[in-house]
Amino acid sequence: MSDKKTGILLLSHGSRLDDGEEVIKAYKEMYAEEFPDIPVEYGFMEIRKPGIPETINKLTSENDLDKIIVVPVFVAHGLHTKRDIPGLLGIESDFDPESISGGHHHHHHGHDHGHDHDHHGHGHHHHHHHDHDEESFEFDGEIVLTDPLGIDPRLYDIIKDRVSEHL
Ligand code: NI
Repeated sequence: MSDKKTGILLLSHGSRLDDGEEVIKAYKEMYAEEFPDIPVEYGFMEIRKPGIPETINKLTSENDLDKIIVVPVFVAHGLHTKRDIPGLLGIESDFDPESISGGHHHHHHGHDHGHDHDHHGHGHHHHHHHDHDEESFEFDGEIVLTDPLGIDPRLYDIIKDRVSEHL
């Protein structure tokens, strides 16, 4: 029987300000406290480090993993969750470019993502390189990308709380 583990990556967008890291780090610490036997890290899809490769390398260097579950801690699906993050993870995506509405819409953060979207179709071998000197990762296990948070009464409660605080 394999004693390999599943690792968790909580993925945030990434920002030049620290607020986003405080939030994702807090959720990572909550998860680690509740599930001390499950390796968990947080990382960012862009702009801020640690990025996806660094985080996966940290998880795999410290643990013998055969699976990584990536949770995009985003409210809704968007181009990042459907197209960019699968590309960065080197996993298949069912993203349909025709699904982009509104004609020419470009996602710019004032930086060139420069993502080399390299989709590997051969089995579960993940190997992703960027153009520049960014870190890459290799992982022979399975990478699962979950849905974002989505529509949930628990989130609706928070929306109501935020309104109530100012009524
Ligand atoms: Ni972005």
